[in-house]
Amino acid sequence: MSTSTARRVGPAAAGKACGVNQTATFQRTNGTFVAQVHGLELSAGIDKDMVEILDQALATHGVLFFRNQQGLNDDSQQAMIQQFGPPVVTALKEIASDHPHFYDIGNVDPEGKPIAEDSARGMYMRANELWHTDGSQNQPPIRLTALHARVLPPVPPPTEYADMRAAWDALPPSRQRELEGLVVEHSIYWSREKMGMSLNSFSAETLAERKPVLHPLVRTHPRTGNKSLYLASHASHVIGWPIEKGRALVEELTAHATQPQYVYSHQWQVGDLVMWDDTWTMHRATPYNEAHPRKLRWCAVREINPV
Ligand SMILES: [Fe+2]
Repeated sequence: MSTSTARRVGPAAAGKACGVNQTATFQRTNGTFVAQVHGLELSAGIDKDMVEILDQALATHGVLFFRNQQGLNDDSQQAMIQQFGPPVVTALKEIASDHPHFYDIGNVDPEGKPIAEDSARGMYMRANELWHTDGSQNQPPIRLTALHARVLPPVPPPTEYADMRAAWDALPPSRQRELEGLVVEHSIYWSREKMGMSLNSFSAETLAERKPVLHPLVRTHPRTGNKSLYLASHASHVIGWPIEKGRALVEELTAHATQPQYVYSHQWQVGDLVMWDDTWTMHRATPYNEAHPRKLRWCAVREINPV
């Protein structure tokens, strides 16, 4: 494991920013990505300097986790995430929460009642068990996601993350040349079809609003210049190819990118805040259907420009 420290130089401008004099230390916990962040109390707020440090760390490590952030509440989580970009409006009515920018990931609804597995909300939760990239079905897609563990069962199910940069780096140069330049259609309907839902499950309004979008198969990170695959459960097929051939390629590359050597399994503790860069990592929930409540508060920011 390697450790790096990012110190802020002096107090924040005009002393207005909270979290002054906090020092973030990044400890790499996995082979190619993922770092634990020490030294930050996120509920105290972070200023622009720290946002820049964390944004750079996300570009470098892909996944950051902060332990013991029990002090974080809706207001401070919102205050933190919105400094990284435009917050995603959580308008999906099937999983809407009591907050315009949060979803609840878990097995209880906003009233605390158990979610039926075959309900629309239950289907969306189960779809999280597919390897995916948040918001790739949108244009612009989601850039960063933050998930805060509010309520956990005694043995919480882990969340798994995959390093699509390492997976790209491991491909032979000839294969990389074949893949660069390909464009993939991403669609919520494709990922939901995998869950057994048909187009008939969606209202005409939803079908009109949530049209499929196109993204490159290979992305270059704007901060690091590193290339990575861009895959997701929503990734359907390759533009210009027969649909089945494209789907087979997406499936093959997803299997490649989620081999154990590219995967980190996060073991949740109450108060954890996990934040990740959706441009080069995938993730998935692991199955959980016990009676004990589980609730994680999800929020995200989107890219400014189409990708
Ligand atoms: Fe997700």
